[in-house]
Amino acid sequence: MSTPAAIAHAAHLLRQGQLVAMPTETVYGLAADATNTTAVARIYATKGRPAFNPLIIHVPSYQAATELGAFSPAAQQLAEAFWPGPLTLVVPYIGTTISPLARAGLATVGLRVPAHPVAQELLAACGCPLAAPSANRSGQVSATLPAHIEADFGTEVPILPAGPSPVGIESTIISTLNTTLTLLRPGAITPEAIAARGLTLAPHTPLSPTSPLAPGQLASHYAPRAPVRLNATQHEAGNAWLTFGTHNPALASAPSINLSPTADITEAASNLFAALRELDSRNPTAIAVVPLPTHGLGLAVADRLTRAAAPR
Ligand code: TXA
Ligand code: MG
Repeated sequence: MSTPAAIAHAAHLLRQGQLVAMPTETVYGLAADATNTTAVARIYATKGRPAFNPLIIHVPSYQAATELGAFSPAAQQLAEAFWPGPLTLVVPYIGTTISPLARAGLATVGLRVPAHPVAQELLAACGCPLAAPSANRSGQVSATLPAHIEADFGTEVPILPAGPSPVGIESTIISTLNTTLTLLRPGAITPEAIAARGLTLAPHTPLSPTSPLAPGQLASHYAPRAPVRLNATQHEAGNAWLTFGTHNPALASAPSINLSPTADITEAASNLFAALRELDSRNPTAIAVVPLPTHGLGLAVADRLTRAAAPR
């Protein structure tokens, strides 16, 4: 766990323009001072991330977010319902301090107030907004444990450790630019949870991979080295298996990980990225994935697996 001294040291590094891997409730983030273009450039260089893909800006509170973005009544309602928490809101940018590189030159900004106590302490200690994409090499599986960050970056990036990320899947991204709220990325805040607040969400319509509006929504993402076979029911030679509940067609001799023996999709989401990384490390011919539920948090799990399986 991160001590106050470790948090103070990380805040010092961030203020100096260095990167720090920080825990959030969703996945680990590769954080930099969002107001420092040189520091933000380090994120793109370290991740190997295309510079047209904007970063999520993490702030300590809704109050702080309103200094950077214009919140429509619906955006405000979402923020009040789900912040701090695993929700990113895309709003018109009205601030003056965020590096244009972090926003990929867009007139909008993606803002999130993380709930993780260490992320909150770090934001308080450094006193600046933090740009933080997931702490993995670009296009690969997100990091939910410090060991995943070390596997991708070695000792290049200092890590503020805090155990496994509790949610395990990235934040829900909602565009609030029009009168309709648009789901840009399914995540831990489900359409059902949003509907329960009386808000209507346009269905998830991933924009074109080349669209500057959601440049991160590239078809191939979260990709392990091995090909991924979805809705698999038959074993093929050399496959490793990702199973769920009692649905387990894996051969006894094949490597397999059950995302949730009790068929709990929340547990499955929290285990997903670690399981993909673990199975991939066995160099299988493919990672075979049994059919999974697609409602609730299953929508986000299905989204990540579809991208993991997309042609590269
Ligand atoms: O849970 C999370 O959101 C994690 C943790 C670290 O907070 N972060 C994360 O960041 O998943 P990243 O960079 O892996 O994904 C950010 C996504 C990208 O798809 C990007 O295109 C989108 O957010 N995004 C950021 N700003 C945007 C904007 N102004 N308009 C549209 N999409 C935006
Ligand atoms: Mg990512």
